[in-house]
Parts: sequence; C-alpha cells; structure tokens
Amino acid sequence: MQNYHITLLPGDGIGPEITKQAVRVLECAAEKYAFSLTFTEALIGGIAIAHTGCPLPEETLAVCRSADAVLLGAVGGPQWDTLPGDKRPEAGLLGIRTALGLFANLRPAIMYPQLRDACPLKPEIVGEKLDLLVVRELTGGIYFGERGREYIDGVEGAYDTERYSVPEIERIARAAFEAARRRGKSAHCGGRVHSVDKANVLESSRLWRETVTRIGRAYPDVALIHMYVDNAAMQLVRDPGQFDVLLTNNMFGDILSDEASQIAGSIGMLPSASLRADKFGLYEPVHGSAPELAGQDTANPLAAILSAAMLLRYSLEREDAAVAVENAVQAALEDGLRTADIWSNECRLVGTAEMGNAVVEKLM
Ligand code: IPM
Ligand code: MG
Repeated sequence: MQNYHITLLPGDGIGPEITKQAVRVLECAAEKYAFSLTFTEALIGGIAIAHTGCPLPEETLAVCRSADAVLLGAVGGPQWDTLPGDKRPEAGLLGIRTALGLFANLRPAIMYPQLRDACPLKPEIVGEKLDLLVVRELTGGIYFGERGREYIDGVEGAYDTERYSVPEIERIARAAFEAARRRGKSAHCGGRVHSVDKANVLESSRLWRETVTRIGRAYPDVALIHMYVDNAAMQLVRDPGQFDVLLTNNMFGDILSDEASQIAGSIGMLPSASLRADKFGLYEPVHGSAPELAGQDTANPLAAILSAAMLLRYSLEREDAAVAVENAVQAALEDGLRTADIWSNECRLVGTAEMGNAVVEKLM
C-alpha cells in the first residue's frame, strides 16, 4: 500500500481545530481509497514564536522538505501584532512559501448551489453556478521587494518595492494557461485567462502584460484578456460569470481572492494550493486565524477540508479521492448543515466538529 508523508502546520487561532477536521477527512479518504498517510506536526507562526522565538523554525522547514505535502491551518493573532514585520507570525507564512519555492497559488472560488443564499450578490447576477480560479503569483512582487523607512529633509516616510523578473512572470503565466486548459477541457469549451495588472501606471505591470501576451501565444486555444485591477475588482461583483481564470501578481491576488470568496458565500469556504513545478505543495484555507473564534467550535472547517481535497489532487495525484471529498462537502451542505458564517434560515446550525463529522460520514 502506498504511504504518503504529510506535514501538519496547525498554527494559531482556529488553525488547530479546522486542521483536525481536515485530517479526519484525509484519514477517511485514505482508508476508502487504500493508501496510507503518516502525519508529522510542526510549528509555524505565533505558536512557533511562543515555543522557539522564531515564526519559522529550521526544524519545521526540514520536516516540510521531507514530506510529500504540507497542510497548514492559519497564522497570526493580536498578541503578536506589535512585533516588527520580520518577527511576526505572517513572516513564517511568507518565509515558508519562499523557502519551499511555492510560486503558484491556486484559489478556486466556487459557489456551491446549496450556498446560493449565503452569496451577497443578487441571483440574477451570480446565475446558476459560479466557478472561477485565482492564480496568484506567490513568491515575488511587493511582498518580497526592498522596503524600509526613510527620512527625507527630516520628514519620515516608508517604501515597498514591486519587482518582477521575466522568468517569474513566465512561470506563473504558464501555470494560469495550463489551469485554464485543464478547466476548459472538463467543461468542453476553451478556457479563458483574465490577466490582471495596472499597466496604465506601473512599469512592472507593463512588463507583466508583455510577458503574459508572449506566453499566451503558445496557448491559442485559451482566450487571453488583459484587465486593470480596479476594473477587475468592479467586474467581480458586476458580472462574475465572465471570469474563468484570473492571473494576478502577489498583491492583486491577495485582494481579489478575498473579494471572490464572498461569491462563494464565505471566506470559510475557500481552499488554496501553493505549488511549484513538481508535485509538492502546501495547502491552506484562504482565511486567517480568526482569533475571536478560536477554541469555540464555531469556525467553518470546509475551507481546510477542501484544501485537503486539493492536496489529494495535486500532490498525491488521487483525483478520485479528491472528487469524493468535494462531493462529501456538497452532500453535507445538501443536508442543510451550516456553520455560522454560511448559516441562513431553515438550515441547521452546526459547529466545527459536527461539520467535520458530517463530511466524514458522507465520504465513508
Ligand atoms: C493570504 C494572507 C497572507 C497573504 C498573509 C497572512 C500574509 O492574507 O494568504 O491571503 O497576504 O498572503
Ligand atoms: Mg489574504
């Protein structure tokens, strides 16, 4: 029986409780599809600071490097908000993304038909079904450019730098075109990539646009549309159905994926995969650590569970198990089970563990 090594990084806030449910679902999937999983837990974020003084201990990186995939909960909390940037829990997350070379962040925003009521957009705007994918560059741009404080003529200022090289843009563009192709195929139509930039102002965006256009020539079956980020933010709520794949830099993807999450009903529904050229990946919900919900058994575990499904798909290449988990999530929703973030009238309000139970039961 094939065995896979998964590193668990539960992190802070609601991270541990949602990760726990995702692990239960993975264990159930392994049993059903006849493979085995070995989990090793390690520290990241605030809890790592508390135990070791560092948000990303060397030991954590070592166990991640020796695994087939990493499942992460969330990092951060108010007790660490006053630390300098490079000492904060978030530095652990940014550090692990770069240290492991995870440049391609896939964030699918799907409105499950059962959650139509949780979507704040009018039914005539969302239509029957919404399924878009944000492909966000994850290891470059303003997140990692030179930054600092400065005094000019005695006046205090600060700066951050957006910088992209051609190879960095090329590889994320390819990831987006490939994703569009895969999605287009399954829907029996050509895929579409909206490349998001601010090329009317930023030089880095002009290089982005040129490079994406050039890479796009190798994908004549995929439609390429360039869109300014301000317009993209508007179009996402005006007519989200026009989007298939949204290709973005690091910063724009951070912002637009939170916006897109509302189309799915709640940020508690959005999973993500952070990938590189091989099969290895780090999987985490798009939401944060929600410290105010921690330990109350109220957080939505579905983003973590759907991240586990992405882990099955991309790192373990167990498409059948991935689809089964996604179907089990839909079946639990179909039964009317809802955590507080997606609750609406006539549905049954459940906690984190009960939602996890329901998915496991549907999967068995
Ligand atoms: C995300 C988060 C992170 C990011 C933070 C926590 C550093 O917002 O994954 O979207 O900005 O990338
Ligand atoms: Mg974000």
